[in-house]
This record gives sequence, C-alpha cells and structure tokens, in this order.
Amino acid sequence: MSPWVPDSLRRERMKEEERLISRRKVIGYGWIAATAVVVGEMIAGTFAFLWPKTPGGKAEKLLIAGKVDDFQVGKMTLIRKEKLFINRTDEGLLAMSAICTHLSCIVRWNEPRNVFECPCHAGVFNAVGEVIAGPPRRPLGLHPVKIVENKIVVDTGKAIQRKNFDRSQLVWA
Ligand code: FES
Repeated sequence: MSPWVPDSLRRERMKEEERLISRRKVIGYGWIAATAVVVGEMIAGTFAFLWPKTPGGKAEKLLIAGKVDDFQVGKMTLIRKEKLFINRTDEGLLAMSAICTHLSCIVRWNEPRNVFECPCHAGVFNAVGEVIAGPPRRPLGLHPVKIVENKIVVDTGKAIQRKNFDRSQLVWA
C-alpha cells in the first residue's frame, strides 16, 4: 500500500511529470528535425548532378515562347513575365534580357525609333542589344534559344553577358 500523499502535492508531482514529458517531446522532435535535415542534404547532394546547369552555374529554366511562325520577321516581341524580348530578324532570332545593364531598370522597345530605351538614366540600345547612348557599358544580356519542332524554346534561367553583338548569336529559324 502506497503512503498517503496530500492532493495538492500529488497535483504538483503530476504537473512536474507533464513538464518533463513535454520537454522530452521537444527534444525528441528536435532530433527528428535535425536528422531529417541531414538526410535531406545527403539525398540532395547525391542527386544534384542530375539537375542541368548553364555555364554560369544556374539551372536551366526553359520557356516555350511559341511557334516560330507566330513571330514576324522584323518584329520585337516582349515576353513580359520573363522580362525578355525576342527579336526575329531576317537572319535569325535573338532573345534578349529586358534588364538594363547599367542599374537593372527594365528597358522599353521604341518601335518608331527602332531602339530600346531605359527610363532610368536614358540608356539606349539598338535592336540587337548594343549600347548606342547613355551610361550602360554592356549590351543587353542574351538568353540561349533553341528551335525544337518549330517552336522557340528560351532558357530564361540566365542571361549571358556579352561584350558585343555578332552574327553567331543569331539562331536560325
Ligand atoms: S538603369 Fe538603365 S540607364 Fe541606368
């Protein structure tokens, strides 16, 4: 037979036991979380090589911009969501970042003047992205383009920096 214990003391002991149990639970959950992080990192590290990388180290992010025939020769098309322009010239396609190479404002295409204009510091770029006025020092970045089954596929993951434009940047379509 157990010794008699006053109710108040019994309640106090029960509270203390509950506190101990909840502390143990917290520590237990902490261990589970830490183990999950370690195992997750091991799995991610093991399979990281499966993700394609661009030369700059960022993963590819492919966008099907549309059928080649949807892009008129001599027309500049803005893909607003991806902040890029597609220029279909009679020699091929160029996908250019709309982000100004000066301080990253978004350039606008001025159709009548046939130039990109930056609203921030009056940078001006020609239709192939070369600087023709203002503070920018580099042409607009270039997004890799492929033609797959007559569709224009753009890697929006990274805009490649370039020193100038040359015809090898054009993708025949
Ligand atoms: S951010 Fe475009 S000219 Fe300065």
